[in-house]
Amino acid sequence: MKLSTQIKALVLCLPAFVHAQSPIALDIARTPPKSARTLDRRVASFSIEFSYLPSFGGNNSAPNELTRALVDRIVERTGVGPDIRPGGITVDSSVYDPNLKDAIQLVTSASGGIYKTVFGPAYFEALNVFPNSSRITWSVNLGNNTVGFAQAGVKAAVEHIGWKRLFALELGNEADHYSWGTTRPHTWASADYTSQFLGWTSFLTRNLSLPQHAWVAGGFAEDPTSSAPMTTRSIINEGVESGGAVKLFAQHTYQYSTCDPPRNAIATLEHLVDHPNITAYLDLWKPQIAAANANGKEFIVGEYNSVSCSGKQNVTDVFGQALWLADTILYGASIGIARLHLHQGATLVFQSSQQANSPGYSWYDLWYPTESDRYGAARAAPSFVAYLLLAEAVGRTDTARIAPLSLPAGTSPQVAAYAIWERSAIARVVVLNMAPSGDVSVDLSKVVGGNAKKATVKRMTAPTIDEKDSTKTTWAGQAFAQGVAEGEQVIEKLDAQGHVDVRGAEGVVIFL
Ligand SMILES: *[C@@H]1O[C@H](CO)[C@@H](O)[C@H](O)[C@H]1NC(C)=O
Ligand SMILES: *[C@@H]1O[C@H](CO)[C@@H](O)[C@H](O)[C@H]1NC(C)=O
Ligand SMILES: *[C@@H]1O[C@H](CO)[C@@H](O)[C@H](O)[C@H]1NC(C)=O
Ligand SMILES: *[C@@H]1O[C@H](CO)[C@@H](O)[C@H](O)[C@H]1NC(C)=O
Ligand SMILES: *[C@@H]1O[C@H](CO)[C@@H](O)[C@H](O)[C@H]1NC(C)=O
Ligand SMILES: *[C@@H]1O[C@H](CO)[C@@H](O)[C@H](O)[C@H]1NC(C)=O
Repeated sequence: MKLSTQIKALVLCLPAFVHAQSPIALDIARTPPKSARTLDRRVASFSIEFSYLPSFGGNNSAPNELTRALVDRIVERTGVGPDIRPGGITVDSSVYDPNLKDAIQLVTSASGGIYKTVFGPAYFEALNVFPNSSRITWSVNLGNNTVGFAQAGVKAAVEHIGWKRLFALELGNEADHYSWGTTRPHTWASADYTSQFLGWTSFLTRNLSLPQHAWVAGGFAEDPTSSAPMTTRSIINEGVESGGAVKLFAQHTYQYSTCDPPRNAIATLEHLVDHPNITAYLDLWKPQIAAANANGKEFIVGEYNSVSCSGKQNVTDVFGQALWLADTILYGASIGIARLHLHQGATLVFQSSQQANSPGYSWYDLWYPTESDRYGAARAAPSFVAYLLLAEAVGRTDTARIAPLSLPAGTSPQVAAYAIWERSAIARVVVLNMAPSGDVSVDLSKVVGGNAKKATVKRMTAPTIDEKDSTKTTWAGQAFAQGVAEGEQVIEKLDAQGHVDVRGAEGVVIFL
């Protein structure tokens, strides 16, 4: 005891150690600042690759119980199911067959590439594993350039999902990449997308008596840099809203990629679990969010994950992905992204001829829904616990507000902190220590005032940042590998000074 006090006194004299050792003092406005954004309880939602939805959901006679259990763990915390978007690149070769007996029939190449996804009425049973409060965004084929495919897809969804659960309809996937294919000219540009969107939504709305403002617009793949072929802003400028069909805007985000060797080389865990990288990347979308909001519409990330072309072994299938997820979603929410749909699926061999991955459930999936050669038994991935941290951070109201906290000068750039208010009172604080090692101490004495005893702390942790065993990655002391809590729940307190320690590669939620 005495010795450590002496050591502490000693290091306090050394400027280099002062910042590492001195607690990070948080000072939070008691009422939310104007810049705080509304926090949707469904902010952490899902996108599931169209052709793999039955693998994740099962059917009425054999529902996927792991999927059900994991989603139930979220619903217990937020009170609603996450939004579900069956979608992705396979939507653009999907065809509805009302007479198909099976849920799905894939036309594949010898190497496992999906040429075509034929789906029948039984396909929709896969959605029944999700709670009724999970709203469905339904995507239809635009890529093939045949309006009859889209018409049949929408008609089937209205019949089999119904407007109680249908939240929005979406035309195609990543239309900014269509110029690479054979169904559009190589000159296919933003104005062409906008005019096709207007034409098709107008026809489908009349033909199928759809409500106004039913559609997601956008859903583009490219980052919105100056070279992006189409963005939310470009289609708004071209009048995409003039037909009254747009409900909200979406774009996709994949910060890293294994689609080609140069990008594969920089898709490392060090680059991924890096707070300044995450914020700099998401900041690219601020003009797109502003454009949607200026028109009274939500902006969502309709599909995203950390590393495109199905993730990366030893990077996205380890606990570090949980830290990346928690920071990405909280920061995204704090800049006005209403919801982010985390993509789940399996490697698609046609996505890139140069990609690093072979077929199998994606390395970035939050869970592996059935037994597979790649992963063995069905189970949650090490990153699943991030969705529990997020569920408890967002709470149960839909009216909470969030803002990122600016931390005292000298704080490690790898510490991220967010404040969450309920009505006019600070309710929760999230602190993420994204560094792989090195503890930080966080001083909440100013935030809790004289009430340090009342505050409780829950912790997301694992033995190391590259932990792969989901029985060792925990939320509040419990692991969820099979979808049910294992182990005793651990609810901590702040210490007598109102401090809490956060180890390297850990996140905590402080409930005030
Ligand atoms: C439901 O799924 C199970 C397991 O994949 C399968 O064996 C069964 O044929 C399916 N039932 C129907 C009606 O498609
Ligand atoms: C969901 O809604 C359907 C149709 O209204 C109903 O049959 C089903 O029992 C509901 N499921 C749950 C879990 O409440
Ligand atoms: C469009 O759909 C037709 C009918 O399924 C198919 O023959 C054709 O190959 C598709 N085109 C592309 C580019 O997928
Ligand atoms: C919808 O379009 C189809 C042709 O694709 C046509 O046969 C049908 O009459 C149309 N229905 C309505 C209500 O416009
Ligand atoms: C991300 O973070 C690493 C340090 O961890 C840095 O070297 C890299 O340049 C950053 N940017 C990108 C785009 O990866
Ligand atoms: C991942 O790590 C394992 C050992 O833990 C190794 O066998 C494998 O080659 C690594 N994969 C990649 C893509 O680096």
